Amino acid sequence: MSSQLQSRIIEQPEAPAPQGGTLPRLLSGIGRHALDLDGHEAVHGPLPFAHDRGRWRRRERADALIEEVARAGLLGRGGAAFPMAKKMHAVAHGRGRAMLVANGAEGEPASAKDHTLLELLPHLVLDGATVAAEAVGADEAVIAVCESAETCADAIAIAIAEREGAGLAGGRGRGPALRLATVPTHYVAGQECALVNYLDGGPALPTFTPPLPFERGLARRPTLVSNVETLAHLALIARHGAQWFRSLGAPAQPGSALITLSGPVAHPGVYEIELGSSLASLIAAGGGATAGLRGVLLGGYAGSFVGAASLPNLALSDEHLAPHGARVGAGVVALLSEEACAVAETARLARWLADQSSRQCGPCVHGLDALAQALAGLSAGERQGERIEQLARLTARRGACGHPDGSVNVIMSAIEAFGEEFLEHARHGSCQACARPPELPLPHRPVEMLPARRRQARA
Ligand SMILES: Cc1cc2nc3c(=O)[nH]c(=O)nc-3n(C[C@H](O)[C@H](O)[C@H](O)COP(=O)(O)O)c2cc1C
Ligand code: SF4
Repeated sequence: MSSQLQSRIIEQPEAPAPQGGTLPRLLSGIGRHALDLDGHEAVHGPLPFAHDRGRWRRRERADALIEEVARAGLLGRGGAAFPMAKKMHAVAHGRGRAMLVANGAEGEPASAKDHTLLELLPHLVLDGATVAAEAVGADEAVIAVCESAETCADAIAIAIAEREGAGLAGGRGRGPALRLATVPTHYVAGQECALVNYLDGGPALPTFTPPLPFERGLARRPTLVSNVETLAHLALIARHGAQWFRSLGAPAQPGSALITLSGPVAHPGVYEIELGSSLASLIAAGGGATAGLRGVLLGGYAGSFVGAASLPNLALSDEHLAPHGARVGAGVVALLSEEACAVAETARLARWLADQSSRQCGPCVHGLDALAQALAGLSAGERQGERIEQLARLTARRGACGHPDGSVNVIMSAIEAFGEEFLEHARHGSCQACARPPELPLPHRPVEMLPARRRQARA
């Protein structure tokens, strides 16, 4: 999580149980400290099957829940918007006993939503992990949290202990065993294969696929890897059903979503929005912009820039954003002020993305590095336009994971959104704004070979 967002402001009012078409849902009951089990159950009620485990162990009951999730249309909130029910079905019907990994790595520097859930609403995440584990037939769920987010890890460890004390976790007929694991703070460590590799004792690096974790993951078992926000939504679908979930949101992307709003806005922070609501309403909820806007980065650092002219018309759903080449992705909305130099911001981002690769495949080692160099050259006045386009073509769709594709996407979207500025820099070299402090936070260290698992689970 970036230092810029650590002082996040949670603007959601404390509220009783979430109603059908109203917000907040996930952020109901949020306060400045972790909500304990009693507080959590006072807001949401107990999990419907918590005292009736036998029926959930039966496959047909679990399949009924997966069908309900399919009807709800829940899409993954980790970035790729993959249908949750499809993944659950594949893992539930895979070969061998299933495993569950709740992905709370949150390597996106401009995102704080997952850390917010882990730190302040740990039982919602654990409810989701419990429901998902039981639906796919897993007797163990691992909650993966990045090692620098100590308050999140502490909140989860305490919440697991509370549930064990209440007989709601721990295996042996009390619901799946819940285990906390910390993972390295690094952008690629949150990629699902890297996560599984690390939890299995290897380095936190993406592995070459297939098989993907849903076929053969942790301990070589079919493994459901789900983002913690996705699991939090699942916890509420298990309580209120598909119709309730769909009473908010866009038809093809139902429900609410957590958005991390940053940049020149009065109250940067994590907000829960109805999918399909306008960017303008989000900025208004954030107290309004504090400067003129040059554009916005949407989705995350593998997302897309959109220029100022389009901002008044933007709505936050994939369907609405598609004509602008953008997606909701991991819920990042990073505003860029008019004072920022979009070329310098993009050049820095390209260098950071190149440094974050795990240096295992040609497209990252040669392509991303060369792209970062070309962008640095362009921002200093070199004519690099054609080379950048050529490198982008050679780099995309050739890596073992999605990192080079995402990086190329964000770079090309910047050139599209801020074309005039790129031309100006190619003609005249750097501008005065190039020397301004960066607006997009870029915190993590460059990749060395990431260490194998050093810390054991803490609960
Ligand atoms: C380079 C890279 C980094 C990623 N980092 C994260 C992360 O920090 N957290 C996360 O939930 N998903 C991350 N993902 C996506 C995961 O691989 C995976 O798709 C996701 O955890 C699945 O959860 P979902 O279906 O609930 O979205 C990353 C993907 C890539 C390519
Ligand atoms: S594509 Fe890049 S980040 Fe992904 S495994 Fe290969 S080198 Fe690593």
